[in-house]
Amino acid sequence: MTPDSRIAAARQLLAQRRHAKRGKPERSFLSIHELAPEDFLHLLRGGLDAKANPDRYRRALAGRPVALLFQKTSTRTRCSFEVGVGDMGGQPVYIDWRTSNFTLGELSDEIRVLSRYFDLIMARVYRHEDLLTMREHSEVPVINGLDDRYHPCQGLTDYMTVLEYFGELAGLKLAYVGDGNNVCHSLIDGGAASGVHVAVAHPAGYAPREDVVERARAKGAQVTITQDPREAVAGADVVYTDTWVSMGDEAQTEARIKAFAGFQVNAELLAAAPDHALVMHCLPAHRGLEISGEALDSESSVVFDQAENRKHAQKYLMAWILKGV
Ligand code: CP
Ligand code: NVA
Repeated sequence: MTPDSRIAAARQLLAQRRHAKRGKPERSFLSIHELAPEDFLHLLRGGLDAKANPDRYRRALAGRPVALLFQKTSTRTRCSFEVGVGDMGGQPVYIDWRTSNFTLGELSDEIRVLSRYFDLIMARVYRHEDLLTMREHSEVPVINGLDDRYHPCQGLTDYMTVLEYFGELAGLKLAYVGDGNNVCHSLIDGGAASGVHVAVAHPAGYAPREDVVERARAKGAQVTITQDPREAVAGADVVYTDTWVSMGDEAQTEARIKAFAGFQVNAELLAAAPDHALVMHCLPAHRGLEISGEALDSESSVVFDQAENRKHAQKYLMAWILKGV
């Protein structure tokens, strides 16, 4: 017979651990619209501070392991997170979904296991629903590194970049020309949080999700939806575009290239925008499709600052989530 004292000890430990969590998954960052506008603006200013004062953040993640889990390919997201975690004294670990047992096990189990090893999990997935499952079962916060619905780290960085250039956001106009996709949705969310008018020009059949647009409008945001790129860029302070064929849409490449004819950001379209308008693109770009090489390389283009700023914005985001700042 097992002595009662051992049984009592086992029961006590089970009870203690039953609902215990290592971290605070409620501090996850899955989309911009879930943030309070003041937190969004705080993160933008924080990102600029992380850029200006990197030494202030050298120990912000000291000794903290961060998982970087990818179902899809990446250059910017992977590298900016990996370098950003290292810059702050943390330990980044890249996990390729396809060579891990996320391919075999239940997502809810596998993510719970990851959250026993790591203090923070960044994940890039196909389905937004999978990120919701991760947040539900993880014991630590989860950051969305892009899914089919949102790209919030990109949106955060983009508004940080616009703030860096213009000094203030409220009252600016950002024209997004192209596919009403994940990046477009996060830009609409960010516009609602910061008072930026977002004007989307898309071909028929490629509008942003209505729930995203309506949610932003319900918050008082100015969101214009049109099928005329020239109308969108008129009076715009920023002209933004993204690929016509997102990861996961490859089977539709031919149809999309046809549908998006006339939606290229190029010198002709930029002539309909004010002279001061900045050109933005989240990259990777397809020169000659959604943007001309000339526009991408033009003096108005800030695409490489945008790419660099991913690192700074995410550094502050991670430190803030883990309360290292
Ligand atoms: N902009 C962006 O997320 O780039 P990657 O897909 O290369 O990470
Ligand atoms: N909309 C693109 C963004 C890539 C960074 C995609 O989802 O593939």
